[in-house]
Amino acid sequence: MALIWLMLLVSAHLAECVPEKPKRSALNQLTRTLLRKYDCGVRPVHNWTSLTKVYIDLILQSVLDVDGKTQSITTSIWYRQIWTDEFLVWDPEEFDGINEISLSSDAIWIPDVIVSEFVNEGKSAPIPYVYVNSSGSVKNYRPMQVVVACSLEMYAFPFDKQNCSLTFRSWLHSVKEIDLALWRSAEAIANDKREFMNDGEWELLSIPSRYWQIHQDNIEYAHIQFNVLIRRRPLLYVVGLLIPSIFLMLVDVISFYLPLNSGTRIGFKISILLGYTVFRVNMTDELPSSAVSTPLIGVFFAVCMAMLMLSLIKSILVVKLLCHSEKEVKQMSISACLLDKYGSAGHNFSESALTSIKTLDCINPSGDYELEPSLEEDLLSLNEIQEAPSGLEWLLQELAFLRLALSQDDTESSAQDEWLALCSKLDIFLFRFYLFVLVLYAGTLLSLWARWSFA
Ligand SMILES: *[C@@H]1O[C@H](CO)[C@@H](O)[C@H](O)[C@H]1NC(C)=O
Ligand SMILES: *[C@@H]1O[C@H](CO)[C@@H](O)[C@H](O)[C@H]1NC(C)=O
Ligand SMILES: *[C@@H]1O[C@H](CO)[C@@H](O)[C@H](O)[C@H]1NC(C)=O
Repeated sequence: MALIWLMLLVSAHLAECVPEKPKRSALNQLTRTLLRKYDCGVRPVHNWTSLTKVYIDLILQSVLDVDGKTQSITTSIWYRQIWTDEFLVWDPEEFDGINEISLSSDAIWIPDVIVSEFVNEGKSAPIPYVYVNSSGSVKNYRPMQVVVACSLEMYAFPFDKQNCSLTFRSWLHSVKEIDLALWRSAEAIANDKREFMNDGEWELLSIPSRYWQIHQDNIEYAHIQFNVLIRRRPLLYVVGLLIPSIFLMLVDVISFYLPLNSGTRIGFKISILLGYTVFRVNMTDELPSSAVSTPLIGVFFAVCMAMLMLSLIKSILVVKLLCHSEKEVKQMSISACLLDKYGSAGHNFSESALTSIKTLDCINPSGDYELEPSLEEDLLSLNEIQEAPSGLEWLLQELAFLRLALSQDDTESSAQDEWLALCSKLDIFLFRFYLFVLVLYAGTLLSLWARWSFA
């Protein structure tokens, strides 16, 4: 009896020491059990008439690129789809209490839900697993970089908002086989900005979503559309594009205060125009371009350039008039006639004679110079007595010539001054007109942009 006890004890001890025959782990066993008879090509329902409802969810992570030329937008999203697989059901009690398990996504059925606007699937990290729990609920979570076609409205750039939709649908299965639904409530999805990288160029406004069915070839297809509403942050463009442009325009306006006859004004304005051209060439890459509509800011730049050119032309015109006056001031007796300022008082000269001489002067612009009538008379009277020049008379004659020459200079310079004043008046008038157009234009654009940016 004691021997038997001993033997039993030894055998029990041995059994403890000898390792067990390696059993499969519970995970391994469960996976084998689940996938033993699984056919990944068949929709996982017992009764073929029941549909598979796929719940989808979307979290926008970032807006990577908005391309006006190709009318496409690249976004990075976290996509989640959840459905029930009736064949992946087990009792956790039988498998060591395992409630959830990850399976290879190649081994099970996956719905063919895609984004119908996609242009390019982009670079998405492949996630080889899905998560399944004991009641057959399959979670397929993956990050996706999707390039989708989107009709972009660039007119208001850089104060634009965009509305791009991501429409999820089963490409092949009708609503009788695969139906779609939102995993979270529409409000929760619309206002979910937790994961959005908010430091980029785009600000996420909201993502409203809607469900609808489309009728195609007598078959209904389920769709879920997410409208991604984003707004551009204009600061970068305001600082980089608008403000330099406005500065250049201001400098151009201020260059009006350069003296009209110094001749530096035209050179200055040409420098500004050149500077603006360089600025424009540098900025062409920054402007979004689309075939249909040009952004208003492009028109703004073109009009600014036109304004600079107009200002230059105005200056050229005024300077040309000024030079004209300097060169041909002697022939410009018309202006002298208009500005009748000859002090003939004190000379005993008949009114009619004065008028006749003046008219002669005005009519005869080819004359080398205009003589002051009183002096001319003096000279004539002197010439009469020239036959017998005595010493005193000679002196008188010389003096008269001197006076004539001096007063001629006077006349010339006074006419020139008059002309300069006239040109200045014209300049001021043109400048005011230019300023008016500029302010009107700038006011219109700024109010438009302000309205867009605060809308
Ligand atoms: C499938 O379901 C439909 C209705 O839900 C039922 O009428 C039909 O009998 C079911 N078929 C089988 C094979 O269970
Ligand atoms: C499995 O997951 C679904 C969805 O998350 C949940 O509703 C269900 O209660 C889970 N089942 C178990 C047994 O945990
Ligand atoms: C965005 O576009 C969709 C259709 O493409 C439209 O139904 C929706 O109303 C638009 N949303 C806004 C805010 O404009």
